[in-house]
Amino acid sequence: MIDVEKIRKDFPILKRKMQGHDLIYFDNAATTFKPQCVIDAVVHYYTELGANAHRGDYELSYLVDSEYEGTRKAVAGFIGADEKEIVFTSGASASLNQIAYGYSRFLKQGDVILSCEAEHASSILPWMRVAEEKGCIIKYIELDEEGRLSIDSLKQLLLDGKVKVVALAHVTNVLGYEAPMKEICALAHQAGAIVVMDMAQSAPHMKINVKDIDCDFAGFSAHKMCGPTGLGVMYGKYELLSEMEPYMLGGGSNARFDMCGNLLLKEAPYKYETGTPPIEAVIGFKAALQYLDQIGMDEIHAYEKELHEYAIEKLSKLDNITLYNPHADACIITFNVKDVFAQDAATFFNSQGVAVRAGHHCAKLLTQKLQTSATLRASCTFYNTKEEVDRFVDICSQASIENCLGVFF
Ligand SMILES: Cc1ncc(COP(=O)(O)O)c(C=O)c1O
Repeated sequence: MIDVEKIRKDFPILKRKMQGHDLIYFDNAATTFKPQCVIDAVVHYYTELGANAHRGDYELSYLVDSEYEGTRKAVAGFIGADEKEIVFTSGASASLNQIAYGYSRFLKQGDVILSCEAEHASSILPWMRVAEEKGCIIKYIELDEEGRLSIDSLKQLLLDGKVKVVALAHVTNVLGYEAPMKEICALAHQAGAIVVMDMAQSAPHMKINVKDIDCDFAGFSAHKMCGPTGLGVMYGKYELLSEMEPYMLGGGSNARFDMCGNLLLKEAPYKYETGTPPIEAVIGFKAALQYLDQIGMDEIHAYEKELHEYAIEKLSKLDNITLYNPHADACIITFNVKDVFAQDAATFFNSQGVAVRAGHHCAKLLTQKLQTSATLRASCTFYNTKEEVDRFVDICSQASIENCLGVFF
């Protein structure tokens, strides 16, 4: 059971006001707030350690290395991977780009890459570039009426034997549907394709074991899971990480090079970690993972599902609200206020102290499916409360065209 009142005390920012109201932060799919233990861990690095990682032969440097590698171990434990399969990147986007760049060397003209219309730009654009450069073809797995991935369509597309990559979000960031990744991986592997799993919206909200799912690669961001910004994780099966090339070269990732251009890279994961990393973020991320673990990922998932059902039950009674994903698997509520442009409605919500996101949420291909150019997205996490949902629903009920446009005058 989640003790949300106790949890809220861990997040200093939740005390702040917005537009004179108690802040209701419903933009957690964009980024989450940080608990005090994460802030303390970041400050600890700057006040007590300060040295670079993997560079020095002195005590401070050893201490940094030990904390840095401690986070790698914690991440591996968190997702059921091996330590040497965990690469630190600058975020999910960097991870997914590195995977596409690295794996592209195994692709050739005519190979097929499968994606779908619900994907975030960071999941699909790297593959679009690979397709253009290599002469590969991107095909889209169909979505059903609700916007869920059709497994029948996937099976159909896998039949031609040309599919080499299936790149999909574990949980989509607009509709909040969870894809059956274990089944998808089994089907893809049977057909000779690898699976890249975008975990940006699933890793913060549920227990995940990448070995059990059997995906080949995955990527996610620390900042969406109570960790610091500027840090992400690329997971890859070790043999694939060993065979692939990093897209960045430089200090820290090479074992040696000479004037003839001979270059020997370090073993994975280090060959992918060129340059000085965000060390304070890496150290802060361990505190975030310990914090999430202490609450319990299953408890977090159950609480967020309950909050979602509570919100949908109330919102579905409002005539002025269009809901696009009432059956989402994550606590992501995508909606519009009838007859009001999403950005105007978001400005009204802001005037009432509520932070929601408006726009296409980086999933531009989905606008056609939803038949709207922009939506509002309220995304909750384990520190949000039913009382906040009540106030949010009340503000939704007041979101008439007059009130929304009245904010501007
Ligand atoms: C599904 C999905 N994938 C990838 C990303 C990219 O994450 P980042 O901006 O942290 O690199 C996001 C961010 O919103 C996302 O929701």
